[in-house]
Amino acid sequence: MHLPHRQGHAGAVVHAPLGYLSPTDESPVNYMFEPPPGVPRESVPADVRQTAIADARQALRPPSLAREGFELWDAPSRVACFDDEEEVRRVYHAECVALALQLTGGRRAQVFDHLVRRREPGRPALALGRPGDGRAPSGNGRVHNDYSEASGRRRLALVMPDEAARGTEVGRYCILNFWRSLNGPVLDTPLAVCDATTVQAGDLVASEIRYPERSGEIYQCLHSPAHRWSYFSAMDRHEVLVFKQYDSQVSGVPRFTPHAAFDLPEVPPDAPLRASIEARCLVLF
Ligand code: OGA
Ligand code: FE
Repeated sequence: MHLPHRQGHAGAVVHAPLGYLSPTDESPVNYMFEPPPGVPRESVPADVRQTAIADARQALRPPSLAREGFELWDAPSRVACFDDEEEVRRVYHAECVALALQLTGGRRAQVFDHLVRRREPGRPALALGRPGDGRAPSGNGRVHNDYSEASGRRRLALVMPDEAARGTEVGRYCILNFWRSLNGPVLDTPLAVCDATTVQAGDLVASEIRYPERSGEIYQCLHSPAHRWSYFSAMDRHEVLVFKQYDSQVSGVPRFTPHAAFDLPEVPPDAPLRASIEARCLVLF
């Protein structure tokens, strides 16, 4: 169900630093583990920009997956324990699939990955994830999109090899992220999302993410004054933020929705540390 929308309130904008990518001629490489001696964890430094982030709950019209590339849904989960891997796979994946089909009108969907993040006290300086395991919310996180043109295209064969085998007949598909708080209303390091209509192809820089056993490719993002950022204040457990990370259709739809965790300027000292789950879902039309 769509959430009731509070309209027309002014002043619901916060300012916080976001970690853009510094302009570069290199292809950035980011390590998600301790790199070899002398190799920096991030080959290209962040371009930290103080950024206006509007509370999308008070937007004049609610953002949508089809227009800005993100949308908030009231969708309580029946999962009792998100630390129970088996229950998350069995119950939560199915819930996200049902929601994905309902949201998009797709014919088939599959969750292929999920990550539970719990921030630990004593905030580390973070980038795309926490050094070591990549699981903590990335305070002042790097602005990124989880897939690039190339890694988005490669995903289909990894998730649904039977469909990929049909070649060009397979038709359109997309990748959606489902992001939910596990701890009640989020005050600590919420997630900001960038209106996809304000992002130009030239803002996105393919970047390698190295894990101990493999490499992935994401986009990092160059700063542009055109970017319009939002977050949903105090997201609660019964809500899910859905945002587009790839679309095989190259025009007329949002394709990439950059996002980053950030620090709210005024957080009560006793605010619970953020815990969240994100699930990635491939949808075929
Ligand atoms: C994501 C993501 C960062 C965070 O959901 O794709 O990058 O801090 N999340 O939750
Ligand atoms: Fe991400």
